[in-house]
Amino acid sequence: MSQSIAPEAQARAAALREKIERANYRYHVLDDPEITDVEYDQAVRELEALEDAHPELATSDSPTRRVGARAQGGFAEVRHAIPMLSLNNAFEQDGEGDRERFREVAEFERRIEQTLGRRQPVFSVEPKLDGLAISLRYESGVFVQGATRGDGETGEDVTANLRTVRAIPLRLRGEGWPRVLEVRGEVIMLRKDFEAFNARARAAGEKTLANPRNGAAGSLRQLDPAITAKRKLSFFAYAVGEVQGGELPSTHSQTLATLRDWGFPVSPEVSTAQGLDGLLAYYRRIGAKRDALPYDIDGVVYKLDDYEGQREMGFVSRAPRWAIAHKFPAQEQTTVVEAIEIQIGRTGAATPVARLKPVQVAGVTVTNATLHNADQVARLDVRVGDTVIVRRAGDVIPEVVRVMPELRPEHTHAWHMPTHCPVCGSALLREEGEAAWRCSGGLICAAQRKEALIHFAARRAMDIDGLGERFVDALVDFGYVHTPADLYRLTLNDFLEMKRRADAAPQAPLEGDGESITPESTKQGKVATKWAENLIEAIEASKRTTLPRFLFGLGIMHIGESTAKTLAAWLGSLAMIRRMPAPVLRVLPDIGNEVAASIAGFFAQPGNQKVVDALLASGVVFADETHPSPKLRQLLDLSVLLDMAGVNKLGPKSTKLLAEHFPTLDRLLAAGSAHWITAGLSSAAATSLGAYLSHEKHLRPLRAADEAMRELLAAIPERSAATGAALDGQTFVLTGTLASLSRDEARDRLEALGAKVAGSVSKKTSVVVAGEAAGSKLDKARELGVDVWDEAQLLALLAQHEGGA
Ligand code: IVH
Repeated sequence: MSQSIAPEAQARAAALREKIERANYRYHVLDDPEITDVEYDQAVRELEALEDAHPELATSDSPTRRVGARAQGGFAEVRHAIPMLSLNNAFEQDGEGDRERFREVAEFERRIEQTLGRRQPVFSVEPKLDGLAISLRYESGVFVQGATRGDGETGEDVTANLRTVRAIPLRLRGEGWPRVLEVRGEVIMLRKDFEAFNARARAAGEKTLANPRNGAAGSLRQLDPAITAKRKLSFFAYAVGEVQGGELPSTHSQTLATLRDWGFPVSPEVSTAQGLDGLLAYYRRIGAKRDALPYDIDGVVYKLDDYEGQREMGFVSRAPRWAIAHKFPAQEQTTVVEAIEIQIGRTGAATPVARLKPVQVAGVTVTNATLHNADQVARLDVRVGDTVIVRRAGDVIPEVVRVMPELRPEHTHAWHMPTHCPVCGSALLREEGEAAWRCSGGLICAAQRKEALIHFAARRAMDIDGLGERFVDALVDFGYVHTPADLYRLTLNDFLEMKRRADAAPQAPLEGDGESITPESTKQGKVATKWAENLIEAIEASKRTTLPRFLFGLGIMHIGESTAKTLAAWLGSLAMIRRMPAPVLRVLPDIGNEVAASIAGFFAQPGNQKVVDALLASGVVFADETHPSPKLRQLLDLSVLLDMAGVNKLGPKSTKLLAEHFPTLDRLLAAGSAHWITAGLSSAAATSLGAYLSHEKHLRPLRAADEAMRELLAAIPERSAATGAALDGQTFVLTGTLASLSRDEARDRLEALGAKVAGSVSKKTSVVVAGEAAGSKLDKARELGVDVWDEAQLLALLAQHEGGA
């Protein structure tokens, strides 16, 4: 009966089946995949095409007709009352126009229109979550059993592990649920939980998870539920299985809404759409959002919404004809490591980075991937020449997930951390208990200088538009800039000269952010001059800034934006901040010993004070300097300094007592120990303090600190003068787009006037400023009767108070 089958086709089909089966086993049973999803999909599609072309090749047990592999021992087997189906996939095709590029989706939609004789049918549209499918069984509203999908017919009983997932309800909420209800969905690991898990594992020198999907699958298949419980898993429902003794709504979208009422998480991205255009609009919308979602997705799923229509459409070999998965480009790819280099960060941390043969990952060309630290390289055993799997997800830097040892060429060498900084030659050192090696060169090291400059110029710091990494590299490499202050001395000629030198250098030509200034474009001298003029202008414009931005921009260790704001709000001016000793800083809210020491330590360096002086001399000014806060009067007295001095036998009660009797250090010293004892100090404490103060090395810093504190207190305006800032006690909420200023800027300026700027509207909100396309916050304001202003009102308010007292 069978005519001769091409032997090549037969051999190829056999090879593909073996590859797919092995991949299934590794993926579904062992949770330890050996090939990437892309390769797997490619193999399946090739086999499908082969079987289409040669129907006589198709066997009933071909992997194209079977979903996963059989469950492995360890857990009890669970037979699914209703099989857990899989979905057919649609991929983007080469070609022009939606109909061609999305041919498979178009055919899917058209088949439904034709079969049902309905135009523009309604679909439930959902993200395709990248985790592990499970089925949850509820009897009389109580969770009784949970199982993995397994091969679709039989799964594993992972009830004990699922009970540890907090997103899964143990009892249903509400009412009206069927006596038996099976809810199906995906167990996933959120990206932040995945990142946190890996960061901890790396710090502890333990094995990391390859991706969140493996995190979810591996955790669920732990034999000890205590381990599962420690790994944070999440769950989203997207289907129902068996239903007995009750009814569900007649559409899938209504069912999901009902499930949500009963206590099941349903992805907030779930929606409905109509016709092909609706499906593709959803695909694009979710695609644009993909990187920003809190979890990994590998596509979207379209499901005909009404169950009647679903029944009519039916199934083909375990996949419904009423649903399809529309897949996004894969987030993992394989490529080759061409080199392993060390990158030195702003704090000197030495991070090994893999330079890769360029590869497209989810629409972005990846050429570098982080290897995190030396331990990670050792654990993965990444070597130059290795084929590796790289992954990019969200805004996380691409990383090397694992090596494919079977593809390792001969004569490779294990990688070792170099002993010296590749940038400045200083020794690389590792502190005890730390994973990171650091360059010991400090600002001698050009890499650390560059990072410091990039930070200084950043949008949230001095906001020097256009001063990107490439410029900073060249400015430092050619010696034009050593400190941030040097930026303000640059002339147009410096830039043009630097550019000539950069173009003559053998490395890649210098490029602006977005604007090319490669040799071709410099032939048009005008273009070259224009970008330099723009940069000079941006540098000039950055001089008018705010105190918090400036403080943040200095890159002082531990000083983020919020600490910078605290410093500015409490101490008022740079002149005060730069001379305050640690004990004074320590009294400010949210500033602990370490942060206080870091700030005081930064300003204790003469080099840093010189940079600050130079910045001020070149014209940097702050629009928002003010007086120290009157609240400091309650927080600062001599006891603060004495406490930090750590004098033996002198506890906080004693220092308070002394501060009450002797308001200044001079008075304390003049009084002497006999008077301290009359004031109530124990004689042991008095002796100890006397001995302490007799040392000049103790007295000198104490005097300096006392003097600084007095000056700070003296700068607080008298009570009669304006109390606090103009908008003290008022809370603003900004929503929508403002035409003439960014939200960041509006926030900065309001805060500079003492207002609080909050992210959500409540009864306590004073004013909601609504820009273009304001949404739910505006509704909320109206609902609560909160004042709503337009942009003009905001600008008028700012104009009224800014520059004034
Ligand atoms: S529905 C009859 N909806 O994709 C259809 N599946 O290839 C049954 N998946 O095993 C599945 N997100 O692991 C459905 N919103 C979603 C999904 C989804 C992810 C996974 C699930 C399933 C596989 C089907």
